[in-house]
Amino acid sequence: MHRTHTCGELRITDINKTVTLSGWLQKSRDLGGMTFIDLRDRYGITQLAFNMETNAAICEKARKCGREFVLKVTGKVIERSSKNANIPTGEIEIEVTDFEVLNESQTPPFTIEDNTDGGDDLRMKYRYLDIRRKPVRDNLLLRHKMSQQTRVYLDAQQFTEVETPVLIKSTPEGARDFVVPSRMNQGQFYALPQSPQTFKQLLMVAGMDRYYQIVKCFRDEDLRADRQPEFTQIDCEMSFVEQEDILNMFEGLVKHLFKNVKGIDIDTLPRMTFADAAKYYGSDKPDTRFDMKFVELKSVETLHATSLLPAGFPVFDNAELVVGICAKGCAEYTRKQLDELTEFVKRPQIGATGLVYARVNADGSVKSSVDKFYDEATLKHWATAMNAAPGDLLLIMAGATDKTRKALCELRLEMGTRMGLRNPDVYSCLWVIDFPLLEFIEEEGRWFAMHHPFTSPKPEDVEHLTNGDYAKVRANAYDMVINGVEVGGGSIRIFDKTLQGKMFEVLGFTKEEAQAQFGFLMNAFEYGAPPHGGIAFGFDRLCSLFGGENSIRDFIAFPKNNSGRDVMIDGPSPIDQKQLNELGISVNSL
Ligand code: AMO
Repeated sequence: MHRTHTCGELRITDINKTVTLSGWLQKSRDLGGMTFIDLRDRYGITQLAFNMETNAAICEKARKCGREFVLKVTGKVIERSSKNANIPTGEIEIEVTDFEVLNESQTPPFTIEDNTDGGDDLRMKYRYLDIRRKPVRDNLLLRHKMSQQTRVYLDAQQFTEVETPVLIKSTPEGARDFVVPSRMNQGQFYALPQSPQTFKQLLMVAGMDRYYQIVKCFRDEDLRADRQPEFTQIDCEMSFVEQEDILNMFEGLVKHLFKNVKGIDIDTLPRMTFADAAKYYGSDKPDTRFDMKFVELKSVETLHATSLLPAGFPVFDNAELVVGICAKGCAEYTRKQLDELTEFVKRPQIGATGLVYARVNADGSVKSSVDKFYDEATLKHWATAMNAAPGDLLLIMAGATDKTRKALCELRLEMGTRMGLRNPDVYSCLWVIDFPLLEFIEEEGRWFAMHHPFTSPKPEDVEHLTNGDYAKVRANAYDMVINGVEVGGGSIRIFDKTLQGKMFEVLGFTKEEAQAQFGFLMNAFEYGAPPHGGIAFGFDRLCSLFGGENSIRDFIAFPKNNSGRDVMIDGPSPIDQKQLNELGISVNSL
């Protein structure tokens, strides 16, 4: 028998029991007369004690073992003289009487403890060692609990888990496809699904009514902390529903997860329109853990209301939008700190040309970086408009509307971080609704579906679609946002063949192209498609949020690095000539 107990199990109540444990040597301490070993397994750490006086032979053997040796020990549970309150087994240790080395180990390339000295690349290369560390292991256990609870909730709501294929034909979701050459159909390629979107719609036509799948999706896009080329969705679809039904159902899922995984009760999710999210937060995924809403001093709508901005400062005079935030209690910021903020917004990733600040002093006077252009009465108007009190700092930016909003959004988040307002243990969830159906991409010179081509316009906006007034068409689309992260998104679908045809036409598909790419869906719609809609959650993102971290990598057992490589297995890799020949791929074309 390899063990009677795990390394996380024994307590003071087990004293005097004879037990057998197996695990890895995390650390050993040789104190001359005594040697101590921390033995680790998935469940915890137990201290082993070896006494040179009473059992020299075993003690000698133990001293020769290095880090990560696999050991099996038998001994008596005894009370520790110096207890460790930081671990659950900290009151006991094992007085070892039998000792076996099950396997030796090379010295690991980094310390396998909660705080490691291993850099990211090294940890990824030896991911199986990294997963031995409690923080990484705990993330995987959290992920497991999240998927279990997702299934509990959705099963109770009569959702059926159906698997959809991985070798498919390209789905139009905006990112690039990963493709797989077909040996049996040379010159042709499968695509890996960016999501099971079309299949889940077909399952609704098929009458499955409520579908879900915890499913791998693949997107060949630039990687970031919250993006992986292969990631997991909780993908869902429902029939005979309207937007309200979907929002309620999936608000229920997120509440269930918070309650059952973290023991937190979440209030009803507020709803914010896309237009308001842009106006007040400069983002379609606002971090609402803190306020600091945008206040516009000048905008397209208030172009002629000049009392706040008499002409004088060319940057503001020529701007489409002048907008600011009020950082409570930050009037004391030094010149150096303000310069840092200016540098921050001028970085190429943000691309602002500058930043105007105004301090509201304790006596109510206002001093700004644009004092030579505006009198104090005007500056005080700003302070009032921005709800500023003595001690507050106003940070103001100007320029073209979208660009300025984006830049101020970054500054707001930066200020939120600096001011300690983005506590990962605080959760602020909301729905962002009423997204535009279409967006015009300048570089491509055409309209694109903001969500995907199957999203339905709001019935009251269909006339704008017919009139060609595309910018005005709002979609029955929604995102769930938690702490500034888009955790999920979905829509009510078009289920009418004619409207779907119109949508393809707006997106620039000819009838033939639409038929070639989506004929299977359009044909299915000829056979009684029910009204339907759905949502997909980014499962890795949900897990990292629940784990209180920004990066999704440590919630994925074997993630890719920022260049899309798996450095552990060293993929992707070249394939040999024989394989290329079989696939009919000529090396010259590579
Ligand atoms: P969407 O493209 O919005 O919708 O994706 C749904 C959610 O998936 C997560 N996500 C990602 N997570 C990690 N890495 C990535 N590269 C990545 N890309 C997306 C996000 C996002 O909110 N078929 C539709 C859903 C629907 O309409 O029902 C879809 O895939 O959290």
